[in-house]
Amino acid sequence: MKAKKFSFDFLTYSLWGGFALTLFSGIFLLVHYVPTFAQAFSSLQRVNEQIPFGWMVRRIHAVGGSFLLLLFLLHLLRVFTVGEYKTRPGALWIFEVLLVFAALWANFTGFFLPLSQEAFWGTASTLSAFSTIPWFGNSLVEFLRGGRELGGVALTRFFSMHLGGAALIALLLFGHDRMAPGRAEEAQVGQSPRSLWVFGLVALLLFAVISFTSNWFTDPLREAANPTVNPEGTLPPWFFVSLQEAFSFFHSTYPVLSAILAVLVLIFLFGLPYLDRNPEKGLLQRPLSLSIGAALMMGIVYFTLVGMAGAHYGEKVVLPGDHPTAAEVRGAQVYALKNCAYCHQVLGHQGRREGPDMAVVRQRDRSPEWIQRFILNARLYQPGTTMPKYEIPLEDLEALSAYLLSLDPTRRVFQAVDRETLLNFGPPAGSWEKKIK
Ligand code: HEC
Repeated sequence: MKAKKFSFDFLTYSLWGGFALTLFSGIFLLVHYVPTFAQAFSSLQRVNEQIPFGWMVRRIHAVGGSFLLLLFLLHLLRVFTVGEYKTRPGALWIFEVLLVFAALWANFTGFFLPLSQEAFWGTASTLSAFSTIPWFGNSLVEFLRGGRELGGVALTRFFSMHLGGAALIALLLFGHDRMAPGRAEEAQVGQSPRSLWVFGLVALLLFAVISFTSNWFTDPLREAANPTVNPEGTLPPWFFVSLQEAFSFFHSTYPVLSAILAVLVLIFLFGLPYLDRNPEKGLLQRPLSLSIGAALMMGIVYFTLVGMAGAHYGEKVVLPGDHPTAAEVRGAQVYALKNCAYCHQVLGHQGRREGPDMAVVRQRDRSPEWIQRFILNARLYQPGTTMPKYEIPLEDLEALSAYLLSLDPTRRVFQAVDRETLLNFGPPAGSWEKKIK
């Protein structure tokens, strides 16, 4: 009994502590941040470099935001595992679920605001995952962006939605606090020195994270966003890695089934205290809850790992193994130089799966001219696509289309060639490394 109260106190302390830190650092940033496409990046650079302790406030804000999200998730998990939701008003649970969503939202919108290459392209790929949601995905993304392009209008929207998210979190927290039973009693237990110790320890840990892990949470502001050049390879914000992978996996494999599944998960999430009528509180006596909860957790972990594994690519380039022509080799080089692997795999290898596998070019019977025009300006063909426009000299463009058209696994054998070797010397003669079917 005692242990239970103790952990609740610790959570409450951390929650309000984390909230206050994030709020006040946010107000500080609000003073200096300029929410326009041209100035957002440089205004934060100024915070980092010229304003005393500005860099620290930025880190506090970013770490605080992630920490809050983590706390809300942990709290939800705890209420679920000990069956606490069975003995309190059901609305409390709904508030807690909403808190997780609001925190996800605030973190997601905040991630875009520095408008660095990472922020821009990370957000672009999350949005393109959103757009695969059946029925309303496209309209949702157009609404978030305020049009077809991710640009100035989007920034204004993300900025106001970020502030809205923060306000929503505050409202939900206060509402939750009002509703929670036995507040006065818990406030007294809150004086217990042990939970203060734990709280101090967590605070110390956070401080260490803020001081020493320079860029885990804060955008390092390496380079301002450039919508026409895709980056070398970035990940969406950590909390969206799993969602995005799950989206693209389910969407490409079971579109209808996944829509139904998503609706079911949402109903289960929000309706839990009303759906679960089993009076038993111990987790092991609740096999159904246990299996659904465990499946969800495993899904999150699995898709996070898959997403992180997909971020490592581009060390090798896929090339025809049987005497590729000079144009095909040149095309593969251009493909590597432009880092198309940021969005495309080739025959299931080496790349993120944001766009289609490049083998479709052959399957869909594209003409060289079509491919070249598409690469110059994909938006003419697919309005709202994340694929940037490319300025590539005609000769290289022709080589690129020759390379893409060579990707026919029914006719040829392929190999993975070291990117550096390919760029510096062309394909290694004779000694092919690894055959790909
Ligand atoms: C930021 C992500 C991104 C990058 C980078 C990117 N693409 Fe794409 N590409 C896409 C998406 C998404 C599509 C699918 C079009 C759509 O429906 O939006 C696509 C489609 C294509 C297609 C059409 C496939 C077909 O036949 O239907 C080709 C060809 C293509 N990309 C080539 C390239 C090449 C070559 C590069 C590098 C120079 C590149 N892409 C870089 C996202 C990207």
